[in-house]
Amino acid sequence: MSGQLDTNCMTLTRFVIAEQRKAPDATGELTTLLNALLTAVKAVSSAVRKAGIAKLYGIAGTTNVQGEEVKKLDVLANDLFINMLKSSFATCLLVSEENDKVIEVEVEKQGKYIVAFDPLDGSSNIDCLVSIGSIFAIYKKESDGPPTEQDALIPGRKIVAAGYALYGSATMIVLSLGDSVNGFMLDPAIGEFVLTEPQMTIPKRGKIYSINEGYEALWDDAVKEYVRNKKYPKSGKPLGARYVGSMVADVHRTLKYGGIFMYPATKDAPKGKLRLMYECNPMSFIIEKAGGQATTGKIPILDVVPTSIHQRCPIFLGSFDDVNDVKALYAKHEQ
Ligand code: AHM
Ligand code: MG
Repeated sequence: MSGQLDTNCMTLTRFVIAEQRKAPDATGELTTLLNALLTAVKAVSSAVRKAGIAKLYGIAGTTNVQGEEVKKLDVLANDLFINMLKSSFATCLLVSEENDKVIEVEVEKQGKYIVAFDPLDGSSNIDCLVSIGSIFAIYKKESDGPPTEQDALIPGRKIVAAGYALYGSATMIVLSLGDSVNGFMLDPAIGEFVLTEPQMTIPKRGKIYSINEGYEALWDDAVKEYVRNKKYPKSGKPLGARYVGSMVADVHRTLKYGGIFMYPATKDAPKGKLRLMYECNPMSFIIEKAGGQATTGKIPILDVVPTSIHQRCPIFLGSFDDVNDVKALYAKHEQ
């Protein structure tokens, strides 16, 4: 097949249509929504690749809800996600990392889905050309009547579909519609995402831990003990350390190679840094569907009931056995 065009390749669009056909009462709304997301991701990918020549680097000059500097690429990615999702006629409410309040879709364009997304995660890595990504979770609106912020406060357990796009050495989308996890690589020659990693599963135990070790002094005792155990094991070899500082890249590596990714609570940030609705939940959904685990240390991330759209949450996710080790230490230190 090498060097030749696969005349029957499984594109992401084709995959989603095939999945939709399995649900007899499906209306096609989710397919339309996912297509809109794909367009946004392709456009962001293209912008990321030519950021320098298109003068997209640097700071846009505003600060976002969390008081962080907003880069030009963040603004562009956010606009793309919002515009594409609204015009899919499949959504009624959007939650974006970049917007203080929920975004209500115009009545005439409303559909039944709610989408929470981080349009461009890993913003501190943009200017130095390290991998960045987009993250999204899709929910069905449960109440009748006009959409309100309350409708968006749904636990991750109820996600209909979630995934991420990684703008790395290639652009890849990893998606789960609730059963398997599948990876699609962007083929720039045809502008399509092609299924390259079907039925992804995470190794039961890994050899890598991933955490911002600079904050060790601020960790709680369970995390300190966990990392010490992995660096000075009673038997066997110490674990390797990897930390990109872009959640999508760190989680994608964890999914592929196994191991654990951690962003714990610190003394400064008692709820951690990462946001529940559009960072922790979609990633936890993917990792659980691939056979791993994601926990706050005490309960599964997907069972946390959000009380506000930008709330933060400590997170430990990855290989089943590695996450079990963290859970055991939290149980021990709680006593
Ligand atoms: P961002 O949404 O401003 O890009 O921040 C989220 C990022 C994650 O991608 C990454 O896991 C984390 O921040 C890294 O934070 P730190 O630099 O504190 O280690
Ligand atoms: Mg982010």
